[in-house]
Amino acid sequence: MPRPVALITGASAGIGVELARIFAAHGYDLILAARREDRLQALAAELDTTVLCVPVDLAKAKGPQKLMDAVAEHKIRIDVLVNNAGVISTELMLEAKGYALTNLVNLNCRSLMELTHHFGRKMVDRGYGRILNVASVASFQPVPGMAVYAASKAFVLSLTESLSEELRGTGVTVTALCPGPTRTEMADAFADLEMAEWFLADPKSVAREGFDALRSGQVIRVPGLANQAMVNWANYQPRWLLRTLGGLASRSAALFRQRE
Ligand SMILES: NC(=O)c1ccc[n+]([C@@H]2O[C@H](COP(=O)([O-])OP(=O)(O)OC[C@H]3O[C@@H](n4cnc5c(N)ncnc54)[C@H](OP(=O)(O)O)[C@@H]3O)[C@@H](O)[C@H]2O)c1
Repeated sequence: MPRPVALITGASAGIGVELARIFAAHGYDLILAARREDRLQALAAELDTTVLCVPVDLAKAKGPQKLMDAVAEHKIRIDVLVNNAGVISTELMLEAKGYALTNLVNLNCRSLMELTHHFGRKMVDRGYGRILNVASVASFQPVPGMAVYAASKAFVLSLTESLSEELRGTGVTVTALCPGPTRTEMADAFADLEMAEWFLADPKSVAREGFDALRSGQVIRVPGLANQAMVNWANYQPRWLLRTLGGLASRSAALFRQRE
């Protein structure tokens, strides 16, 4: 019986590294993708499983195709696709560089969609497969100050929910993991927001929740009680209130930074 294979994007840091460790510990062979090959190789050397490292910039136009080609070249059948790679922008939208925002959308949305479309079709043909899309608590409401990031994660959640219904009865499931702030390199981007250290989740436990949700075929998983309470509260508020409170929070954070 061949070992199952999981393809994990963004496996050179943070939640992606922890996901790779969990899948390896559960008997999966791995395909790890990210730009920093040295990091991927170091992780591969640590893991007691067969690993193919694919250095690739998934925000580039041909990035996702390069990854698909690498998988096809090695004739590997993907049982699990984990779309984890992502970047954030914490500037006001019009103050951010245009190319950085395009890069964000290309990675967080376009690449995720193309990989899901390609590998999802193969899974349906086989009648089995699991897809894990890493979204965010920012998927559930507008976030002034992170406008494009929050919009990209709303895309991921909406896509995942619709697709989960389109895939009903096919043997293929799709799950959105929606973490809150988590202690990774990405969290350095909002370190100046004076976020209490205890508020940041451990990437290992976030990855564990993602793995469990994927295995049970759950459609949406929000790790942590505080995040669940926040998301549930937001779901029952009018949208004008959510965006107004978000705007107030964004402006007071900017004032706080100016005074420092
Ligand atoms: N940390 C949080 O607070 C938080 C909260 C909610 C959701 N999330 C989501 O969780 C996921 C993982 O984030 P993380 O916190 O683990 O962040 P991280 O530590 O910064 O890791 C991001 C990963 O994405 C990869 N990546 C970035 N740009 C890429 C590109 N152009 N092509 C290919 N790979 C690229 C990075 O690898 P290279 O740099 O080597 O390419 C790295 O492996 C993201 O989707 C993020 O939006 C994070």
